[in-house]
Amino acid sequence: MTQNQPSPTATPEREAAGTPIVVVDDVHHSFGSGPQAVHALRGVSFEIRRGELIALRGRSGSGKTTLLNLVGGLGTPTGGRITVDGTDLASLGETGLLALRRDRIGFVFQSFGLIPVLTAAENVGVPMRLRRLPAKEREERARTLLALVGLADHAEQRPGELSGGQQQRVAVARALANDPDLIIADEPTGQLDLETGRSIMELLRAVVRGKDVTVLVATHDPNLIELADRVVELRDGRIVEPGANDGTP
Ligand SMILES: Nc1ncnc2c1ncn2[C@@H]1O[C@H](COP(=O)(O)OP(=O)(O)OP(=O)(O)O)[C@@H](O)[C@H]1O
Ligand SMILES: [Mg+2]
Repeated sequence: MTQNQPSPTATPEREAAGTPIVVVDDVHHSFGSGPQAVHALRGVSFEIRRGELIALRGRSGSGKTTLLNLVGGLGTPTGGRITVDGTDLASLGETGLLALRRDRIGFVFQSFGLIPVLTAAENVGVPMRLRRLPAKEREERARTLLALVGLADHAEQRPGELSGGQQQRVAVARALANDPDLIIADEPTGQLDLETGRSIMELLRAVVRGKDVTVLVATHDPNLIELADRVVELRDGRIVEPGANDGTP
């Protein structure tokens, strides 16, 4: 601060807009203890700005899923600090973390994670049910979201009646159900062929642009990384070199 007078434009909202949505600060995470302990994360620090699509890459076992889960409030790091939208996750209790996951974050998994007995529209409606949105509103919004992901004509089909790529589109629509600030996707294209996988990444890319959402996506796939704004690479629980995406795998 160079002046004592508060700037008339420095509203809390404006300040929030300039802050990163995710701050990961020297995060360590171990599973187990003693000589058997697995040190999955060994001092990871990085920030994600609002509206970025970040690809998290690294070999199997490098700590990607561990990091995504911690950023998503599924578990607490054994060291360091994670802030989402200015809130230190350590300051939230179980209820607070539950609300964060329900209201602010959308998750997309490699195995889609849809409920087999529910239709596409009902699956998209699940997070809205958790928020107790009235049925009519849920249905309308589910249909809007399914149209957004190109599945307007498949709303009544169950997951088993959809292709893998279509199921993942439903999962992306479901992740958007509660209008999240952040989407966390763990190898969302891992079970899809290259072309279908690319269309899912392009969908996430379009969502970032159109809906002002931030996306953190773990992927092994070098062909998909070029769609990211930035690549964060993990190796043995440490970040190798964060930087701009230069398109090289
Ligand atoms: N629940 C757990 N208990 C014990 N060790 C675990 C657990 N979860 C992960 N690990 C270990 O932590 C390390 C990081 O695992 P993580 O799942 O984060 O890797 P990843 O980068 O997501 O790998 P992949 O690309 O195969 O999904 C690995 O050595 C793994 O065996
Ligand atoms: Mg993983």
